[in-house]
Amino acid sequence: MNAETQKRAAAARAVEYVESGMRLGLGTGSTARHFTELLGERVRGGLKVIAVPTSEATHADAQRAGIPLSTLDETPELDLTVDGADEVDSDLNLIKGGGGALLREKIVATASRRMIVIADESKWVANLGRFPLPIEVVQFGLGAIRRRIEAAVGQGISVKVRQGKDGHPFVTDGGHLILDAAMGRIVDPADLAQKLSLIPGVVEHGLFIGIASTVILAGEGGLRVVERNKERR
Ligand code: A5P
Repeated sequence: MNAETQKRAAAARAVEYVESGMRLGLGTGSTARHFTELLGERVRGGLKVIAVPTSEATHADAQRAGIPLSTLDETPELDLTVDGADEVDSDLNLIKGGGGALLREKIVATASRRMIVIADESKWVANLGRFPLPIEVVQFGLGAIRRRIEAAVGQGISVKVRQGKDGHPFVTDGGHLILDAAMGRIVDPADLAQKLSLIPGVVEHGLFIGIASTVILAGEGGLRVVERNKERR
Protein backbone atom coordinates (compact mmCIF):
# COMPACT_ATOMS: atom_id res chain seq x y z
CA MET A 1 0.00 0.00 0.00
CA ASN A 2 1.40 3.41 -0.90
CA ALA A 3 0.72 6.44 1.30
CA GLU A 4 -2.32 7.51 -0.74
CA THR A 5 -3.88 4.03 -0.51
CA GLN A 6 -3.21 4.03 3.23
CA LYS A 7 -4.88 7.42 3.67
CA ARG A 8 -7.93 6.22 1.75
CA ALA A 9 -8.12 3.05 3.84
CA ALA A 10 -8.08 5.09 7.07
CA ALA A 11 -10.76 7.38 5.63
CA ALA A 12 -12.91 4.41 4.64
CA ARG A 13 -12.78 3.06 8.19
CA ALA A 14 -13.76 6.47 9.57
CA VAL A 15 -16.83 6.56 7.31
CA GLU A 16 -18.07 3.47 9.19
CA TYR A 17 -18.48 5.65 12.31
CA VAL A 18 -20.95 7.94 10.53
CA GLU A 19 -24.63 7.36 11.26
CA SER A 20 -27.67 8.85 9.61
CA GLY A 21 -28.71 12.14 11.21
CA MET A 22 -25.21 13.06 12.32
CA ARG A 23 -23.82 16.59 12.27
CA LEU A 24 -20.25 16.31 11.05
CA GLY A 25 -17.07 18.38 10.93
CA LEU A 26 -15.05 17.88 7.75
CA GLY A 27 -11.28 18.25 8.05
CA THR A 28 -8.76 19.64 5.61
CA GLY A 29 -5.79 18.08 3.82
CA SER A 30 -5.10 15.15 1.56
CA THR A 31 -6.32 12.48 4.02
CA ALA A 32 -9.46 14.38 4.97
CA ARG A 33 -10.21 14.83 1.27
CA HIS A 34 -10.49 11.03 0.91
CA PHE A 35 -13.02 11.05 3.77
CA THR A 36 -15.06 13.79 2.09
CA GLU A 37 -15.12 11.87 -1.20
CA LEU A 38 -16.13 8.60 0.46
CA LEU A 39 -18.76 10.31 2.58
CA GLY A 40 -20.14 11.86 -0.59
CA GLU A 41 -20.62 8.36 -2.03
CA ARG A 42 -22.64 7.38 1.07
CA VAL A 43 -24.70 10.57 0.87
CA ARG A 44 -25.51 9.89 -2.78
CA GLY A 45 -26.61 6.43 -1.60
CA GLY A 46 -29.13 7.97 0.83
CA LEU A 47 -27.19 8.72 4.05
CA LYS A 48 -28.62 11.84 5.74
CA VAL A 49 -25.98 14.09 7.34
CA ILE A 50 -25.06 17.75 7.46
CA ALA A 51 -21.47 18.88 7.60
CA VAL A 52 -19.39 21.92 8.53
CA PRO A 53 -16.17 22.23 6.49
CA THR A 54 -12.92 23.45 8.09
CA SER A 55 -11.64 25.38 5.06
CA GLU A 56 -12.69 26.93 1.79
CA ALA A 57 -10.94 24.04 0.01
CA THR A 58 -12.97 21.44 1.92
CA HIS A 59 -16.12 23.48 1.33
CA ALA A 60 -15.51 23.17 -2.41
CA ASP A 61 -14.69 19.42 -2.15
CA ALA A 62 -17.82 18.76 -0.10
CA GLN A 63 -20.03 20.71 -2.48
CA ARG A 64 -18.64 18.70 -5.38
CA ALA A 65 -19.33 15.50 -3.45
CA GLY A 66 -22.96 16.54 -2.87
CA ILE A 67 -22.74 16.73 0.94
CA PRO A 68 -25.31 19.10 2.52
CA LEU A 69 -23.38 21.86 4.27
CA SER A 70 -23.97 24.00 7.31
CA THR A 71 -22.06 26.49 9.46
CA LEU A 72 -21.28 26.61 13.16
CA ASP A 73 -23.69 29.55 13.39
CA GLU A 74 -26.59 27.37 12.23
CA THR A 75 -25.22 24.17 13.79
CA PRO A 76 -23.03 25.06 16.77
CA GLU A 77 -22.81 21.51 18.14
CA LEU A 78 -21.46 18.63 16.09
CA ASP A 79 -21.48 14.88 16.70
CA LEU A 80 -18.23 13.94 14.99
CA THR A 81 -15.30 15.60 13.25
CA VAL A 82 -12.95 13.57 11.04
CA ASP A 83 -9.63 15.20 10.15
CA GLY A 84 -6.01 14.40 9.32
CA ALA A 85 -2.92 15.37 11.30
CA ASP A 86 0.75 16.10 10.75
CA GLU A 87 1.82 14.24 13.91
CA VAL A 88 0.08 12.12 16.55
CA ASP A 89 1.64 10.95 19.82
CA SER A 90 0.57 8.13 22.12
CA ASP A 91 -1.50 10.54 24.28
CA LEU A 92 -3.40 11.38 21.06
CA ASN A 93 -2.03 14.89 21.13
CA LEU A 94 -1.57 16.30 17.64
CA ILE A 95 0.31 18.75 15.52
CA LYS A 96 -1.96 20.13 12.82
CA GLY A 97 -1.85 23.00 10.37
CA GLY A 98 0.44 21.72 7.63
CA GLY A 99 -2.34 22.74 5.26
CA GLY A 100 -2.84 26.08 7.01
CA ALA A 101 -6.38 25.39 8.22
CA LEU A 102 -5.60 24.90 11.91
CA LEU A 103 -7.80 27.72 13.24
CA ARG A 104 -11.06 26.52 11.69
CA GLU A 105 -9.98 22.92 12.31
CA LYS A 106 -9.61 23.56 16.04
CA ILE A 107 -12.89 25.50 16.29
CA VAL A 108 -14.77 22.73 14.49
CA ALA A 109 -13.08 19.87 16.38
CA THR A 110 -13.81 21.44 19.76
CA ALA A 111 -17.44 22.01 18.76
CA SER A 112 -17.70 18.22 18.24
CA ARG A 113 -18.47 15.54 20.79
CA ARG A 114 -15.88 13.32 19.15
CA MET A 115 -12.86 13.82 16.89
CA ILE A 116 -11.48 10.95 14.80
CA VAL A 117 -8.03 11.48 13.30
CA ILE A 118 -7.17 9.59 10.13
CA ALA A 119 -3.55 9.20 9.06
CA ASP A 120 -0.93 6.96 7.58
CA GLU A 121 1.51 5.38 10.06
CA SER A 122 4.24 7.92 9.23
CA LYS A 123 2.33 10.48 11.33
CA TRP A 124 2.61 8.40 14.53
CA VAL A 125 5.53 9.69 16.65
CA ALA A 126 7.03 9.01 20.07
CA ASN A 127 7.26 12.77 20.71
CA LEU A 128 5.72 15.71 18.92
CA GLY A 129 8.09 18.16 17.27
CA ARG A 130 9.74 16.61 14.25
CA PHE A 131 7.17 18.51 12.15
CA PRO A 132 7.60 22.30 12.53
CA LEU A 133 4.71 23.65 14.61
CA PRO A 134 2.36 25.87 12.56
CA ILE A 135 1.36 29.02 14.45
CA GLU A 136 -1.28 31.33 12.96
CA VAL A 137 -0.58 35.01 13.67
CA VAL A 138 -2.07 38.36 12.71
CA GLN A 139 -0.11 40.35 10.13
CA PHE A 140 0.29 43.42 12.35
CA GLY A 141 3.40 43.33 14.53
CA LEU A 142 4.88 40.22 12.96
CA GLY A 143 8.44 40.90 14.14
CA ALA A 144 7.39 41.43 17.74
CA ILE A 145 5.08 38.39 17.78
CA ARG A 146 7.87 36.26 16.38
CA ARG A 147 10.26 37.38 19.13
CA ARG A 148 7.70 36.51 21.81
CA ILE A 149 7.29 33.05 20.30
CA GLU A 150 11.06 32.53 20.20
CA ALA A 151 11.33 33.62 23.84
CA ALA A 152 8.46 31.30 24.90
CA VAL A 153 10.14 28.28 23.32
CA GLY A 154 13.76 29.12 24.15
CA GLN A 155 16.96 28.00 22.47
CA GLY A 156 16.91 25.83 19.39
CA ILE A 157 13.82 27.31 17.73
CA SER A 158 13.86 28.38 14.10
CA VAL A 159 10.83 30.31 12.88
CA LYS A 160 9.92 30.85 9.23
CA VAL A 161 7.05 32.76 7.67
CA ARG A 162 5.26 30.21 5.48
CA GLN A 163 5.43 31.05 1.79
CA GLY A 164 2.67 30.36 -0.71
CA LYS A 165 3.12 28.83 -4.15
CA ASP A 166 3.09 32.35 -5.66
CA GLY A 167 6.26 33.33 -3.75
CA HIS A 168 4.30 35.61 -1.40
CA PRO A 169 3.54 34.80 2.24
CA PHE A 170 0.81 32.18 2.60
CA VAL A 171 -2.43 33.76 3.84
CA THR A 172 -4.98 31.62 5.71
CA ASP A 173 -8.73 31.54 5.12
CA GLY A 174 -8.98 33.96 8.06
CA GLY A 175 -6.53 36.43 6.46
CA HIS A 176 -3.63 35.64 8.80
CA LEU A 177 -0.04 34.42 8.35
CA ILE A 178 1.47 31.11 9.40
CA LEU A 179 4.79 30.88 11.24
CA ASP A 180 6.35 27.42 11.02
CA ALA A 181 8.32 26.95 14.22
CA ALA A 182 10.91 24.16 14.09
CA MET A 183 12.02 23.33 17.61
CA GLY A 184 12.69 19.58 17.75
CA ARG A 185 11.19 17.43 20.49
CA ILE A 186 8.38 19.19 22.38
CA VAL A 187 8.89 17.99 25.93
CA ASP A 188 5.63 19.34 27.41
CA PRO A 189 3.08 20.00 24.64
CA ALA A 190 0.33 21.20 27.03
CA ASP A 191 2.66 23.74 28.66
CA LEU A 192 3.84 25.04 25.28
CA ALA A 193 0.24 25.27 24.05
CA GLN A 194 -0.65 27.44 27.03
CA LYS A 195 2.38 29.70 26.62
CA LEU A 196 1.70 30.27 22.91
CA SER A 197 -1.99 31.02 23.53
CA LEU A 198 -0.99 33.85 25.87
CA ILE A 199 1.04 35.74 23.24
CA PRO A 200 -0.87 38.72 21.82
CA GLY A 201 -1.09 38.34 18.06
CA VAL A 202 -1.07 34.55 18.11
CA VAL A 203 -4.48 33.63 16.74
CA GLU A 204 -4.08 29.87 17.20
CA HIS A 205 -1.40 27.20 17.14
CA GLY A 206 -1.31 23.69 15.75
CA LEU A 207 -1.05 21.83 19.08
CA PHE A 208 -4.30 19.92 19.61
CA ILE A 209 -4.12 18.77 23.22
CA GLY A 210 -6.74 16.34 24.56
CA ILE A 211 -9.06 16.95 21.59
CA ALA A 212 -8.77 13.74 19.52
CA SER A 213 -10.71 10.77 20.88
CA THR A 214 -9.76 8.15 18.27
CA VAL A 215 -6.94 7.76 15.77
CA ILE A 216 -7.19 5.46 12.75
CA LEU A 217 -3.73 4.68 11.42
CA ALA A 218 -3.12 2.89 8.15
CA GLY A 219 0.17 1.12 7.50
CA GLU A 220 1.71 -1.76 5.58
CA GLY A 221 0.21 -4.18 8.09
CA GLY A 222 -3.33 -2.82 7.79
CA LEU A 223 -5.38 -0.56 10.02
CA ARG A 224 -4.83 0.22 13.68
CA VAL A 225 -7.45 2.01 15.76
CA VAL A 226 -6.15 3.79 18.85
CA GLU A 227 -8.71 5.08 21.32
CA ARG A 228 -7.90 7.52 24.10
CA ASN A 229 -6.68 5.25 26.94
CA LYS A 230 -7.20 1.99 25.06
CA GLU A 231 -6.13 0.34 21.82
CA ARG A 232 -7.71 -2.36 19.65
CA ARG A 233 -6.96 -4.00 16.31
C1 A5P B 1 -4.52 21.13 7.54
O1 A5P B 1 -4.35 22.39 8.04
C2 A5P B 1 -3.80 20.15 8.41
O2 A5P B 1 -4.07 20.23 9.76
C3 A5P B 1 -3.97 18.73 7.90
O3 A5P B 1 -4.98 18.06 8.57
C4 A5P B 1 -2.69 18.04 8.14
O4 A5P B 1 -1.69 18.87 7.59
C5 A5P B 1 -2.65 16.67 7.50
O5 A5P B 1 -2.67 16.79 6.12
P1 A5P B 1 -2.47 15.55 5.16
O6 A5P B 1 -3.63 14.66 5.40
O7 A5P B 1 -2.47 16.16 3.78
O8 A5P B 1 -1.16 14.95 5.51
